[in-house]
Amino acid sequence: MNAESLVALLQRHRENAARVLDPEALDYFATGSGEEISLSEAERAWREVRLLPHVLRDVSAIDTGVTVLGDALRAPIVVASTAYQLLAHGFGEVETARGAHAAGALMVVATRATTRLEDIAAAAGAPWWFQVYVVRDRGITRELVVRAKSAGGTALVLTGDTPVFGRKPRQGDPPVTEEMHLVNFGDHLATRDGWRDDTAADASITPDTIGWLREMSGLPVLVKGVLRADDAAACVAAGAAGVIVSNHGARQLDRAVSTVRALPAVVDAIGSNSTVLVDGGVRTGVDVLIALALGARAVLIGRPVLWALACDGAAGVSALLNALRDDLVHAMMLAGCRSVSEITRDLIA
Ligand SMILES: Cc1cc2nc3c(=O)[nH]c(=O)nc-3n(C[C@H](O)[C@H](O)[C@H](O)COP(=O)(O)O)c2cc1C
Repeated sequence: MNAESLVALLQRHRENAARVLDPEALDYFATGSGEEISLSEAERAWREVRLLPHVLRDVSAIDTGVTVLGDALRAPIVVASTAYQLLAHGFGEVETARGAHAAGALMVVATRATTRLEDIAAAAGAPWWFQVYVVRDRGITRELVVRAKSAGGTALVLTGDTPVFGRKPRQGDPPVTEEMHLVNFGDHLATRDGWRDDTAADASITPDTIGWLREMSGLPVLVKGVLRADDAAACVAAGAAGVIVSNHGARQLDRAVSTVRALPAVVDAIGSNSTVLVDGGVRTGVDVLIALALGARAVLIGRPVLWALACDGAAGVSALLNALRDDLVHAMMLAGCRSVSEITRDLIA
């Protein structure tokens, strides 16, 4: 598949999703926070980077394989954690996990998943990671993390940018029922009274949370939502295995910097000993190439997976991930890079 057909696939998924989704669900998935200034920049920022490709390299065989936190991946392309996937498809996260598995990709499962962790794990087959929102009742978070580990999660992704949800003026309340919200939380509530407060974000968390999660689970912890070099260094000092450079798909602080601009300083601060991933507006193989050239080990993909899921379930998700991998192969050939380790910063003009 070439770049044009990936672009066509993305476009088709996006248009079909707009047709099949409830308007409230569509808004929930699509919107950004505030005036959507960060959202409007997210994809464009990758396109502003220019490249210095190599020539006359033998690129007859391309290897996109990469190891992230000990998990061997077919390509440096990971399914980002996105909440409430039942709003996109009748089998929600289970269907996403099937699609990721079919494409040999790793999935990050959200705390606010709307199907049971154990069912998602069974469908994922391959390694998967658990995204952690620390909620006000710490016991709930502890029990969910233990559950994710026993179901086979191989790493934790602590979301650090969400002490409170960003305001999204274009979006009403997502049509999430109590049942959907509590499908995973429910087992850990002493009583359903007060569940909204008990499962709301704990705004008081600090880097100490990293050690707490690591000790309790024995799993590596990535901190997601990091945009600053000093924060990245503080996370690693507190025991994180690395960070995900992210502005939460432009859904938290509006006018937060685009992730392609934040990435190099974070890599310079911690990249030699720690894992740095990036997400936000990554849509093509060239975007992935740029992310890797700037020092990311892999990228995560959010909304395009939701559009693919809404249109065509697991088949849509695997088609998207495979098309993106093919597009990366194509970009690597044209850039003269045979393997991920040959994608280095000198490719950036
Ligand atoms: C609808 C939606 C729900 C999301 N839910 C979560 C979540 O529950 N936890 C989290 O850490 N990030 C969440 N994110 C952020 C994604 O993990 C990711 O950072 C972002 O979508 C990447 O940008 P992209 O959508 O442009 O690819 C969500 C994003 C979207 C679009």
